[in-house]
Amino acid sequence: MYRTKTIAFVLLAATFALSACAQAAPATEAPAAEPPAAVGGLPTLDCAPNCEYSDLVVGFLQTGSEGGWRAANTASFKETAEQLGLTLKFYDSQNDLANQVAGFRQFIQDPEVNVIVLAALETTGWEDVLQEARDAGKVVVLEDRRIDAPEDLYATYIGSDFAEEGRKSADEMCALLEGSDTKIVWELVGNVGSSAAKDRGQGFRERMGECGIEVTNSQTGNWSITEGKAVTEAWLRESEDVDGIFAQNDEMGLGAIEALKEAGLVPGQDVQVLSVDATGGAFKSMLAGELGVTVECNPQLGPQVYEAALKAANGEELPKWVPSQEGVFRASDPNLQEIADGRAY
Ligand code: AHR
Repeated sequence: MYRTKTIAFVLLAATFALSACAQAAPATEAPAAEPPAAVGGLPTLDCAPNCEYSDLVVGFLQTGSEGGWRAANTASFKETAEQLGLTLKFYDSQNDLANQVAGFRQFIQDPEVNVIVLAALETTGWEDVLQEARDAGKVVVLEDRRIDAPEDLYATYIGSDFAEEGRKSADEMCALLEGSDTKIVWELVGNVGSSAAKDRGQGFRERMGECGIEVTNSQTGNWSITEGKAVTEAWLRESEDVDGIFAQNDEMGLGAIEALKEAGLVPGQDVQVLSVDATGGAFKSMLAGELGVTVECNPQLGPQVYEAALKAANGEELPKWVPSQEGVFRASDPNLQEIADGRAY
C-alpha cells in the first residue's frame, strides 16, 4: 500500500515538474521590445526607441523655387540629408496648392517614406491629409510655414515668427522715415494665404501706428522680382505719393527698387525700401545704398527639422513650435560689408 502511494506521488510530482518546465522553458529569442507608446496619438516608427538617421526616409514637400530664400532652404535640406545619411525624397510643389496636396498623398502611399516634412503653401485645408498621414503611421514635421490645424496632427513646427518679422519691419520703417512729414507706405505682399504673408502683414499693422505709418497700397507680388516690379510700376503710374515700400521678401523689394529707378526716383533717398529675408541680393542692394533694411528670416532649417523628426520617430514629445532666432540688417551699419562676407546665402 505504502509502495503504491509512493509510486503515485512520484508520478504526480514528475508530471507537475514536466508541465512547469514546459511553461518556464526559456525563450530561444528575446521578444522584440515594443516601440514606445505614441505621444498624444502620434505615430512612432518601428525602430523606436532606437531609430537612427539612416532609418529615416523623408518626403519633403517644398513650396517651389521662388527665390534666394527658398533656394537656401532647399539646399539646407539636401546637404544636411547627405551629411546625416538619411534618405530624402524631394517634391517641388511649384507654388501650386493642388500639386502640394497631391504630393502629400503620394508620400502617404509611398511605403518607403516614414517621415513627411511640409512647407505649406497655405495655412488652411490640411486636416484631411494630416489625418491620413497619422493613420498611415507617418511622422509629420512642419517647416518654415505654420498651418491652421489641430496640433495633435503633427509632431512639431520649426520656423520663423512671421508676425514678429512684421513688427520689426514696422519699427525699422518708422526709423527709416523718421523726420518725414508724411509716412505713406506701399506693401508688396507674398503669396496670399501663406502664413508668411498673413502674419508679416498683421505684425506690421500691429506696430505701424506708433509712428503714424499709413498703408495706401497693398497687393501681392507673389514673392517674385518681376511681379514686385510690375505691381510697383502700376502704382507709380497712378501716383508717386509714397515715402516707403514694405516688401514682404527681398525679391519683391529688389523688383520695387528697379521700378523706382526706372521712374526716375532714387531708392534710399526719395523712397525708403525695406524687405524681409536677408539674402545675398539684399546685402548687395544695401551696400549699393538702395535697400534700407532687410529683416532676417532663417532658411537653414534642415538640421533642426531632421533632429526633430528623429526624436518624434523615437517617441519623444516635442514643443509644438520652435521659433527661429533672427536679426535685422541695416544699410547704415558700418560693418555691413564684413557681415555680408560672412553670410552663407
Ligand atoms: O516662408 C518664407 C518666405 O517664403 C520667404 O520670405 C520668401 O522669400 C519665401 O519664398
